Amino acid sequence: MRAIALMLDEESLAEAAKKAASLPRIPTTSTNPNPPNTKAAQKMFADKCMICHRWNGSGEVVFRSSPLWGVQDWYHAAQLRKYRDGWRGADPNDFDGPKTAVIASRLTDEEIDAMTAYLVELAHGDDPRAVMER
Ligand code: HEC
Repeated sequence: MRAIALMLDEESLAEAAKKAASLPRIPTTSTNPNPPNTKAAQKMFADKCMICHRWNGSGEVVFRSSPLWGVQDWYHAAQLRKYRDGWRGADPNDFDGPKTAVIASRLTDEEIDAMTAYLVELAHGDDPRAVMER
């Protein structure tokens, strides 16, 4: 991806972003034949993620946080592992990546799989505010 991105000038980048934004967003579906229980992940999302990604995972332009639905579940899992393992969000010049990386650094494989499964439920309308700590 970096090799391709390096070939794009500012104009092509803007054009590619505009094209991507115009594509229909299809809610994330599960590719896991045995999705794990998501109760703890729902609570984790409410406690630790929705402050930046919004309660419905739509992302927030002000925080520059990504929408968390509209991509495939395996992609979420791969990104969370990359953040956790220092492949993403570890560059000192990266302002946005560390926000998720600092949380992902504490996640086990099982918690990442559960969060990935939960993000499928979120994409299909689950409301994590129901389990918010008061
Ligand atoms: C302090 C704000 C903040 C918090 C808290 C946070 N994130 Fe993020 N997240 C971001 C930002 C900003 C980005 C875009 C980062 C980048 O450009 O690498 C992002 C990116 C991501 C991505 C990559 C999306 C993609 O399309 O590549 C995933 C997955 C993600 N976050 C999941 C989570 C989960 C799950 C949690 C809770 C455990 C969480 N984030 C907590 C701000 C946050």
